[in-house]
Amino acid sequence: MTDRTVSKSTSTAQPVDAYATFKREAGEYAVRFVESGMVVGLGTGSTAIHAVRRIGAMVRSGELRNIVGVATSLATLQEAMALGIPLLSDDLPREIDVTIDGADEVDPAFNLIKGGGGALLREKIVAQASRRLVIVVDERKLSPQLGVKWPVPIEIMRFGYASQVRHLASLGAQVNLRMTAEGTPYVTDNGNWIVDCNFGPIDDLEALAQRLGARAGLVEHGLFLNMATDLVVAGDHGVRYMPRP
Ligand code: A5P
Repeated sequence: MTDRTVSKSTSTAQPVDAYATFKREAGEYAVRFVESGMVVGLGTGSTAIHAVRRIGAMVRSGELRNIVGVATSLATLQEAMALGIPLLSDDLPREIDVTIDGADEVDPAFNLIKGGGGALLREKIVAQASRRLVIVVDERKLSPQLGVKWPVPIEIMRFGYASQVRHLASLGAQVNLRMTAEGTPYVTDNGNWIVDCNFGPIDDLEALAQRLGARAGLVEHGLFLNMATDLVVAGDHGVRYMPRP
């Protein structure tokens, strides 16, 4: 049987602190794409939060003026409010100039798996309304093929849950309902559940995305295809910036 173990650990043996530094370096580097007057998508997770904090500091110091943020999760919303970043209303009345967000796995064409932090639905809404999507990661997230390192998170309606699990299994996934540390199902900002679906290495991303998108009850999936425009990777050899190939 194919080994489909997916975990955040990789063969690159770095002390935990090194990855914390890489995340900070990647997040802070990306803030150079933000200019005064812009609408800015504020990502979710332990890497993107560094960009949010840096933007907050630049707003407070006056280095960035007249910017307005759009948070991709309630956690980021709270952080942005505490930092004093002005926020756009939830109906997104303006196009977003640039969004800075993290990812769980990134392939060579900048296709992504996202949703490890549970915010994939709002993240995708913000990403698709953005002219530019800058992804910030540490080097562990780079992958030759999506599905090698991370399962595909799917936000699902609670109604009909078991029927979705049967359907996803019929598509070849090992399906796990995401749980909290307290042993209850993880509930998203939108009141739904998340199933982490391990398909193994995914050969046809478009076909899978289409099948998942066509199923009622699957609210959104964590495959972000052809959305990222820029990639910032931090690792042992410093910070690398790459525009989409
Ligand atoms: C949140 O739902 C995710 O898409 C995150 O952006 C992703 O999980 C990356 O998170 P970290 O930067 O914390 O690894």
